Amino acid sequence: MNREEGWKLVHDRLGDTATTAHCLACEACMRALARRLEQDEELWGLTGLVHDLDLDECANDIDRHALVAAEVLRDHGAPDELIQAVLGHNDKAPRETLMAKALWVVDPTTGIITAAALIRPSRSTSDLKIKSIKKRMKDKRFAAAVNRDQIRACTDQLDLELDDFLTICLEAMNEVWT
Ligand SMILES: [Fe+2]
Repeated sequence: MNREEGWKLVHDRLGDTATTAHCLACEACMRALARRLEQDEELWGLTGLVHDLDLDECANDIDRHALVAAEVLRDHGAPDELIQAVLGHNDKAPRETLMAKALWVVDPTTGIITAAALIRPSRSTSDLKIKSIKKRMKDKRFAAAVNRDQIRACTDQLDLELDDFLTICLEAMNEVWT
């Protein structure tokens, strides 16, 4: 499965939605992390891109989320490492690879960065600072559904300090922000 095929699957299922924007944000972060950690940038990017392709159809039955995606991805010839990471991000498989761990940590991180950007007058990541993302993380009522511990797990899962990890993700998201 190449990037074009992955994008078609995502766009056909999700359309032009916030979930699609989230998938593109995760793709950008995963690519940037792969570069930093000297991993397979294409594979990591593709994994981020397709990881939530079943999210909207599973919205009312979230326990099926990732299982449905894994089936679709298997049918389209996605590599096993990608499928395992997708399953792992919703606790449907153990997160054994660095890529699976990265996806799990990136997922809520794009959520907090997006939420922090959208309340700015610019509604953009372009003038968002790491300091203000961290401030939002400390405010439990802000984007309350976003799991902060999962973001902070960058230290033990990826061996990256929080500031460093947030900087990589913010810069990556800024490149694809529309
Ligand atoms: Fe996600």
